[in-house]
Amino acid sequence: MTGYVLAIDQGTTSTRALVFDAQMQVVESAQKEFPQHFPQSGWVEHDPQDLWDTVVWAVRTALKKAGVAAQEVKGIGITNQRETTLIWDKATGEPIHNAIVWQDRRTGSLCEQLRAQGHEPLFTDKTGLLLDPYFAGTKVKWLLENVDGARTRAEKGELAFGTVDSFLIWRLTGGKRHLTDATNASRTLLYNIGENVWDEELLGILGVPASLLPEVKDCADDFGICDPELFGAPIPICGVAGDQQAAVIGQACFEPGMLKSTYGTGCFALLNTGTQKVKSENRLLTTIAYRFNGETTYALEGSIFVAGAAVQWLRDELGLIDRADQAGALAAKADPNQHVYLVPAFVGFGAPHWDSEARGAMFGLTRGSGAPEFARAALESVCYQTHDLLAAMHKDWQTGDTETVLRVDGGMVASDWTMQCLADILDAPVDRPTMLETTALGAAWLAGSYTGLWPDAKGFAKAWARDRRFEPKMAKDERKRKLDGWADAVGRTLSH
Ligand code: G3P
Repeated sequence: MTGYVLAIDQGTTSTRALVFDAQMQVVESAQKEFPQHFPQSGWVEHDPQDLWDTVVWAVRTALKKAGVAAQEVKGIGITNQRETTLIWDKATGEPIHNAIVWQDRRTGSLCEQLRAQGHEPLFTDKTGLLLDPYFAGTKVKWLLENVDGARTRAEKGELAFGTVDSFLIWRLTGGKRHLTDATNASRTLLYNIGENVWDEELLGILGVPASLLPEVKDCADDFGICDPELFGAPIPICGVAGDQQAAVIGQACFEPGMLKSTYGTGCFALLNTGTQKVKSENRLLTTIAYRFNGETTYALEGSIFVAGAAVQWLRDELGLIDRADQAGALAAKADPNQHVYLVPAFVGFGAPHWDSEARGAMFGLTRGSGAPEFARAALESVCYQTHDLLAAMHKDWQTGDTETVLRVDGGMVASDWTMQCLADILDAPVDRPTMLETTALGAAWLAGSYTGLWPDAKGFAKAWARDRRFEPKMAKDERKRKLDGWADAVGRTLSH
């Protein structure tokens, strides 16, 4: 069979489109950044029109660069920044407000209130999540309560809610389909991940009318057909997954016990737990890894909000490097006798501490601490945070004797220095794949396998190839000293 697959990756800071051929190779891609809006401290918004315009631009540009006609594209796979929340008018397709981004903390006091009312165990039990502003549910409530007339219009059935995937499907199909997939639904605080239904009790607590909600489909499924006016042919949309789940798929982590970690702005580690919905005792999230043919595979997830963002901080705020890829070389020059720690709680802590009030700190500075020590502290902080997530995972889910290998992807993994540091701190091997477009590959595989152009999960897993394995080399004592120092630094940074 011949033909192409198109992946749309709508992320937090940019939108990308990638054209893949029948051999699962990237032919061409196009990427555009869009503005971030910070209307108040702790608030983060995107203009929905920017999301839409950059998607249309990226798809058209990637197809043009590849010399591929829309008729040759067998299917589109969509992957997206998760939790970011939109509500739009079903008649006009116009959003009633900017998208509220996953990083936005405006519903902190609402979460606090819900916790004080004793609701958290119920939400955790049904959704696998915690009452944190990160997730979509309280953002929906905020929009209904703060946008003029929104609640009345919602109750009349005039409005639609969706995460970014849903909004794009609505627009791509010319307003014909209001859909999402199980992975995106699992990040809303409204979806019962055990029963795979929108949960009436939770909708009641948050005051969200059911008429707002999209239908939830498998990750590889019929998500409608693109309006032919957009790209020149009616391309089917047949794959959807939130970006971290798409990375699980792109890394072919299809077996229970397989583990991946993606280093973008933040870091998200997901452990496949198979059909077992493991309840975390260590403040990790339980989430849907993917749903194929109606069968749900679950994951334990650890989410850290600052990973690559710490390197951006070195570059943009401190001016210590010109480009992010210089951080590793600078860190390598650091004085081994200095023990400088950066705790990058710039927007509070995610897992496993979930402390939205904490802010970043540095420890161990001496008169001799300079740029190399700052760079090393920033990169090491990412490794330490990954260590804490994995330690929590091991407590929650006993993998028996099987050796844990971490499959990594995302911009930061290009740095050999950082990956060696990660293996050393984890005391476990770290595998870097040859194909670093993991998230887009996962979305493309959903569409490619659904259309029959690409192999099934088994065939796809076989094609996964390693670029390099980083084996741990650090002496035990040294590792312990470093981890003790980190634990002490975190303890001193927590707000409670
Ligand atoms: O949960 C948030 C995550 O999906 C954002 O990912 O890659 O857009 O920063 P990214």
